[in-house]
Amino acid sequence: MDFKLDLLPEEKRNYNCLSELETLSFGQLRSDHMFVAEYEDGEWKNARIVPYQNFSIAPGAMVLHYGQALFEGAKAFQRDGELYTWRFDKNAERLNESARILCMPEIPVDFQIEALNRLLDIERNWCPKVEESSLYIRPFMFATQDSLGVHPSSKYIYCIMLSPSGPYYAGGFSNTVTLLVTEKFHRATPGGTGAAKACGNYAASLRAQEFAKSKNCAQVLYLDTTNTYLEEVGAMNHFHIMKDGSIIIPEFTDTILKSITSQSVLELFPNARQERIKIADFLEQIENGEIIEAGGFGTAAVITPVGKYVTDDGKEYVVGDGEIGKHTRAIYEKYVSMQRGDIEAPEGWLVQV
Ligand code: PLP
Ligand code: COI
Repeated sequence: MDFKLDLLPEEKRNYNCLSELETLSFGQLRSDHMFVAEYEDGEWKNARIVPYQNFSIAPGAMVLHYGQALFEGAKAFQRDGELYTWRFDKNAERLNESARILCMPEIPVDFQIEALNRLLDIERNWCPKVEESSLYIRPFMFATQDSLGVHPSSKYIYCIMLSPSGPYYAGGFSNTVTLLVTEKFHRATPGGTGAAKACGNYAASLRAQEFAKSKNCAQVLYLDTTNTYLEEVGAMNHFHIMKDGSIIIPEFTDTILKSITSQSVLELFPNARQERIKIADFLEQIENGEIIEAGGFGTAAVITPVGKYVTDDGKEYVVGDGEIGKHTRAIYEKYVSMQRGDIEAPEGWLVQV
């Protein structure tokens, strides 16, 4: 596909602002340009890279009424002046899985990769060099047909925007977080959209997240709708570590997002496996010391250690000594060392732009 380029002149680009920053928060900054394409008459067209700008959509655009929208999250890293993407092919495939679940058009994986690489090539100066930071990649797609009937839209916009970012949870890998285990809210239902990166899943999680905050917890650890099994966290998968060092991740069901970080850990660590985990057993095993560490896996959150769980009755379950454990630290070190290119990643994971 042909790409049209409408680029800012060099003197209007703003990437030098990065050099003044010692730390970066997550998702606040924007790079100068974005990639956009439109879907109409059954095909993707009008692919272009343009300055970061507002969209013009009709008040009747279906995304505004029925929320037909999805997104992805990936990262690029810089090393010795070169830029590398991390497993973006997996994000592109997952975007298409989400599209199928939401009755949206798929986008050929090669096209998504080419669009990103062309954009990154123009925006390479936007990749931060600060520790624990990266150029966060946010592809997304939304319905633009002007129609009030409830049906799949016939028109869409696909866009990739970039955000030089630090860690999702402030402080990065130096802190543990507390999670609320609650039976009051659920993230996803069987047969629903939980396995898709559907925007609506995140809208639906806000009330639970605010509730968690009111209990001094960073997020909710969601249970299945029968309140029996542990599922995942609002923006990351969950893991725990047993006394023998094995890494346990909940089995992927249609109510859990298939985290690329989790899949990577499963491939990298022979002692990592997936199980259906009963919440009652989980809490009991924290109490009796069988479970020694726990945390979350995600692109933005990377590896976020959890120090404590709080249940609806206010009971607290401290994992190990409540601090970052040695196994979690080892997973983190290996994973980010591969992303930074300090140690070799499996073939095709770290791809030069
Ligand atoms: N689960 C949810 C609900 C998420 O939003 C994310 C973030 O992308 C993840 C899990 C982790 O997925 P990944 O490792 O692919 O970023
Ligand atoms: C990511 O980890 O990339 C995500 O998309 C999570 C997001 C909700 C911040």
